[in-house]
Amino acid sequence: MKCRKCPALVTNRNKIVFGAGNIRAQLVFVGEAPGRDEDLQGIPFVGRAGQLLTKIIEAMGMTRREVFICNVLKCRPPQNRPPAPDEVIHCRPYLKEQLRLIAPKIIVALGNHACQALLSTDKGISQLRGSLQEYEGIPVMCTYHPAYLLRNPSEKRKVWEDMKKVIQLLNTPDV
Ligand code: URA
Repeated sequence: MKCRKCPALVTNRNKIVFGAGNIRAQLVFVGEAPGRDEDLQGIPFVGRAGQLLTKIIEAMGMTRREVFICNVLKCRPPQNRPPAPDEVIHCRPYLKEQLRLIAPKIIVALGNHACQALLSTDKGISQLRGSLQEYEGIPVMCTYHPAYLLRNPSEKRKVWEDMKKVIQLLNTPDV
């Protein structure tokens, strides 16, 4: 993949961070965009927020290799600024295709940008958090981004409540 659709991201990036994990995963985590560490390594969620996400996945009884992890944007925005609306539009076909190919049982959307990109809504995370939404027939659990949890550790409890619902859904036999 040598995408050049977003001029500001092409000149700034070291590596495209497409995604990592099991392409047959039942569970996909979608974050916002790569940060510095991710851009250098080409792997999503390997910095501080990523280490917390790894802990969350492990607390759910899984490993990073079992799930799939990706972001709305595949390239790091300069200075970690939020994704620009046109960048989300440019990058959405990649996310869409990833989710179509993996066809997970459930998606966890981490933070505002992931929720809004997947659900095409302008509702904020505080409104969406904890509720099961839907993307192309796949349930989406909206929850807080691990970077937010690093700043607000007392909110971890809510994310754990959300992850318990995700585990329950994963354990529900297909009908
Ligand atoms: N934050 C994200 O949203 N994604 C990453 O890959 C790393 C940090």
